[in-house]
Amino acid sequence: MESNKQISSILFVCLGNICRSPLAEAIARDIVAKHNLYIKVDSAGTGSWHVGETPCENSQKVAFQNSLDISNYKARQVTKKDFQNFDLIVGLDSSNIANLKKIGCQNPLLLGDFGFEGEDVPDPYFFDGFEGFTTVYSMIETCVNTLFEEYNLISTSITNPIQYQLK
Ligand code: 4NP
Repeated sequence: MESNKQISSILFVCLGNICRSPLAEAIARDIVAKHNLYIKVDSAGTGSWHVGETPCENSQKVAFQNSLDISNYKARQVTKKDFQNFDLIVGLDSSNIANLKKIGCQNPLLLGDFGFEGEDVPDPYFFDGFEGFTTVYSMIETCVNTLFEEYNLISTSITNPIQYQLK
């Protein structure tokens, strides 16, 4: 773990950037906002099929049920520049990790390694109905919170200086 380096940016990566990684992004952004942290959070997909699209309806719905609005998120494809621009690159499943490594990401993290014993977050794109999305949401929520805990991001991250001045 890069415990000596201040973590100030996290990128969550799945396949399409329309189901799972937008949820991880929203959950992480919520933690950042609630704790007034200075951490950039984004998400992307390894594939390009859905670039420019908003998250899938069921991800928007489960986010909304958890008081998160992802309706204005737009899918994008991960780029090599991301590997320089983000301190942590976090894949949602092991195929995302393999794809990231193929395009030159040297040390992607697996989200399921944070509180879920290395399990893949299942791809809900072909799920029948909504129910599976609540399971996926809850798994992502657990793992993102655990990631913030394991990297001590809440206690060690620099508080947003602009917000701080306004207080
Ligand atoms: P995501 O889900 O990786 O969680 O955004 C998928 C979205 C689209 C496809 C696969 C997975 N697709 O094959 O188009």
